Amino acid sequence: MSSYKSFAVIGAGALGSTIVVAFAAQNLPVVVLARPGSKSTDKLPAGTKLATVDTSDAAAVAAVFKEHTVDVGIWAEKNQIAKQLKSAGIPSLRIYNGLFTEYIPWLFVNAETKNIHIVGKDEAPLSAMALPDVAGFVVHVLTTPPSAELENKIFRIEGGRTKVNDLGALFKTAVEYVTKIPGEMGDIKTIVATELDFGLGSTG
Ligand SMILES: NC(=O)c1ccc[n+]([C@@H]2O[C@H](COP(=O)([O-])OP(=O)(O)OC[C@H]3O[C@@H](n4cnc5c(N)ncnc54)[C@H](OP(=O)(O)O)[C@@H]3O)[C@@H](O)[C@H]2O)c1
Repeated sequence: MSSYKSFAVIGAGALGSTIVVAFAAQNLPVVVLARPGSKSTDKLPAGTKLATVDTSDAAAVAAVFKEHTVDVGIWAEKNQIAKQLKSAGIPSLRIYNGLFTEYIPWLFVNAETKNIHIVGKDEAPLSAMALPDVAGFVVHVLTTPPSAELENKIFRIEGGRTKVNDLGALFKTAVEYVTKIPGEMGDIKTIVATELDFGLGSTG
């Protein structure tokens, strides 16, 4: 049985706010740490406990954790944080979930033609998981097994598995092979799609 009773989520973006909703649905205590000037806190459910704090200030973060008797802090930027925690002798759990399903249309569907953009061959396997499923897994895993089963572990999960070049059939549209994704944030989308072409979107 889990010994974790109280939780903190650092950053209230798309994933952070969905995790907060999942904790609230289980009536579990959760506090959000947002940096000063954060514009994403309006996504939080009404009544969420919120602490505005410079998250690079370890003493300030520790004070919030102490005030709210936090057992587990949840960060989206997992690799960097895990390294720092390890050097401080604090255990961590990393969860890799592949691509958020909600981001698939943003990344792959051409806003004008509605075709799917393919960079490279995109035959590599792609793991995808919807944000509420990721959040549900986070809450489940932090509240069920004993903490010793989680400490310094890496979990790789997926809600579904596909290939990018199968998305045309899924969206009932044509596919276009491109070297660059056009439109707003096309450069960033091209980098992400290229990484997925190398198989980096697969969690296992
Ligand atoms: N797997 C995927 O498909 C996928 C897709 C997109 C993103 N991601 C990654 O998953 C993570 C979460 O994604 P998301 O869609 O939830 O991103 P998002 O909506 O942009 O939210 C990120 C949140 O983190 C906060 N934040 C960033 N740096 C912070 C810091 N130093 N201290 C406190 N808060 C900080 C931001 O707060 P502010 O309001 O202060 O900026 C924002 O609330 C990110 O690491 C992102 O790179 C994964």
